[in-house]
Amino acid sequence: MKYTSSTTEVPDAPAVPRHVAIIMDGNGRWATKRFLPRVAGHAKGVDAVRTVVESCARRGVEYLTLFAFSSENWRRPEEEVSLLMRLFVKALEGEVSKLHANNIRLRVVGDLSRADQKLQDMIAAAERKTAANSRMTLTICFNYGGRWDIMQAIGQMVKSHPGATDFSEAQLAPHLVMAYAPEPDLFIRTGGEQRISNFLLWQLAYTELFFTDTYWPDFSAACLDEAIASYQHRERRFGRTGAQLAEKAS
Ligand code: IPE
Ligand code: IPE
Ligand code: MG
Repeated sequence: MKYTSSTTEVPDAPAVPRHVAIIMDGNGRWATKRFLPRVAGHAKGVDAVRTVVESCARRGVEYLTLFAFSSENWRRPEEEVSLLMRLFVKALEGEVSKLHANNIRLRVVGDLSRADQKLQDMIAAAERKTAANSRMTLTICFNYGGRWDIMQAIGQMVKSHPGATDFSEAQLAPHLVMAYAPEPDLFIRTGGEQRISNFLLWQLAYTELFFTDTYWPDFSAACLDEAIASYQHRERRFGRTGAQLAEKAS
């Protein structure tokens, strides 16, 4: 697919977002509120992932991207980090065949070199198995950071144009780790915080943002519908005036 950039050409604004990107936040607080260990929130969060994957596929979303572990999450207590790793392995073991049966392609993006070898092998196998699936692409951002992504893309871009000193967006974009997907139409962050936390910094340039107080483990199909309904009421101007849009529609 050709990568189109919202800052260099005006993309389509589809009624059902083609690409939904989610910061799944609030697992720890969900658990703490119930006097449970934080890890119980992460475990419950996996159920919400299943619900949202299924709901997005049903609604015709083509790309669903989930922030599972950020490059800054290593700063958490060692015990929580290792549990998150184990949970990720378990989810891959349990879910990949279901994704495959539902014609869903899985991609995992981020700096995978920091994951242990077993996890890296599992990711490679899951991606291979689901590579030809066409109903929806599910991307898991793991040890991902928006700045890391931009920096690694710059590194590759410079290498592929030896001697060049001037670069364009169009030369950088193919090196971003999600170059296979259009830029997100809708961004959702659960858990009440209103920040990007180093998620898809480049790709969110013109994405519609939706923040909800709902903790991720409580995020349901109805919550997804609420976010999509909010998106459908936005006027996506991409720099133009509202009058220009009205004229184009008439
Ligand atoms: C999101 O929930 C999951 C990850 C970052 C891995 P949190 O663990 O950040 O939950 P809160 O924000 O502490 O409630
Ligand atoms: C963002 O959540 C990262 C993920 C959901 C994986 P955090 O809970 O780590 O974000 P901050 O630290 O509150 O900004
Ligand atoms: Mg959090």
